Amino acid sequence: MRSGQSRPIVDMTEQKPVTESTAQKVPALPDAQTVTEVKHYTDRLFSFKCTRPASLRFRSGEFVMIGLMGGPDPKTGKQKPLLRAYSIASPSWDEEMEFYSIKVQDGPLTSKLQHIQPGDEVILRPKPVGTLVHDALIPGKRIWFFATGTGFAPFASLLREPQTYQDYDEVIITHTCREAGELTYGRDLIEALKDDELLNEVIGEDFWKKIKYYPTTTREESAKMGRITDLIRSGEAYADLDVEPLNPESDRAMICGNLAFNLELKEMLEEAGLEEGANSKPAQYVVEKAFLD
Ligand SMILES: Cc1cc2nc3c(=O)[nH]c(=O)nc-3n(C[C@H](O)[C@H](O)[C@H](O)COP(=O)(O)OP(=O)(O)OC[C@H]3O[C@@H](n4cnc5c(N)ncnc54)[C@H](O)[C@@H]3O)c2cc1C
Ligand SMILES: NC(=O)c1ccc[n+]([C@@H]2O[C@H](COP(=O)([O-])OP(=O)(O)OC[C@H]3O[C@@H](n4cnc5c(N)ncnc54)[C@H](OP(=O)(O)O)[C@@H]3O)[C@@H](O)[C@H]2O)c1
Repeated sequence: MRSGQSRPIVDMTEQKPVTESTAQKVPALPDAQTVTEVKHYTDRLFSFKCTRPASLRFRSGEFVMIGLMGGPDPKTGKQKPLLRAYSIASPSWDEEMEFYSIKVQDGPLTSKLQHIQPGDEVILRPKPVGTLVHDALIPGKRIWFFATGTGFAPFASLLREPQTYQDYDEVIITHTCREAGELTYGRDLIEALKDDELLNEVIGEDFWKKIKYYPTTTREESAKMGRITDLIRSGEAYADLDVEPLNPESDRAMICGNLAFNLELKEMLEEAGLEEGANSKPAQYVVEKAFLD
């Protein structure tokens, strides 16, 4: 669906022909932002960037509602925005917004959203919220980011946020997906961090040495196979990462994955003695669903 057609404003007094350069672009959608870049990773995953509303402030790790205009109501003919929750994958300081998205073939939104192209418009409601924020955690030494699938998105933001490296000595990011191709977005992003100008300048050239990246797959061969939950339970993840087991004194964690994953990890963290935090009551770990089921 192309939604970015501009409606030219014709200046009748001067009778000038409306050309590309004289036409003023009028947004066709409410809260419209313009898509600037789209990248496809697999037949189920893509990312895109769009312009950022001038007044939008958010904390790295938060989510917003984004979407497209839905089809006309069969009775009234009126169109309503079709919106879904999306983690902002870009950091709070970035001048553009980035999102990392699933493509659900019969999904009301993503069956259409997967076809957006630069120049198209998306709706972005400028009301960021969420619990995967540094403010919801009390100080610690080591932070774990636990993700499955598109649950990597909030951590794509937090991994590019200077505060992550100011607050912690060690940053461990685990990403479990079914197939190896589903790790590409995260792997590329972490690889690119080494050359991140802002982080190198603000934190220092060695900041990326704080990061330990632990990607695993469950249904396709890759360097590390298995669910992160099982790998932690067996002690294999600790041995691979060369770290001490989770403990409430030093460890803080953020979880973002499917419901069963979130619940299983929550239980494991509680067993290790960590307490769940919130914006209103910071503690040792926080959780958010990567999608509703
Ligand atoms: C707090 C929050 C943050 C979210 N952030 C993101 C994000 O950053 N990126 C993103 O792609 N989605 C995210 N989602 C999910 C998103 O809101 C939509 O569900 C998704 O875009 C699909 O929309 P849809 O209308 O096509 O299908 P829907 O009707 O919303 O979903 C149809 C079915 O597809 C499956 N599904 C939906 N989303 C996903 C997903 N992300 N991964 C795997 N299976 C899924 C579920 O089984 C769901 O029942 C988030 C959801 C929540 C609650
Ligand atoms: N990914 C695909 O190739 C694919 C293709 C077509 C349709 N779908 C559908 O899309 C939906 C979402 O699929 P998805 O792959 O994006 O997400 P997902 O089902 O949430 O799986 C993502 C990863 O999380 C792991 N996982 C699931 N539950 C876990 C738990 N309790 N503890 C630890 N790890 C856990 C999975 O391992 P396991 O593999 O062991 O479950 C998988 O590696 C599903 O309804 C699926 O049927 C997916």
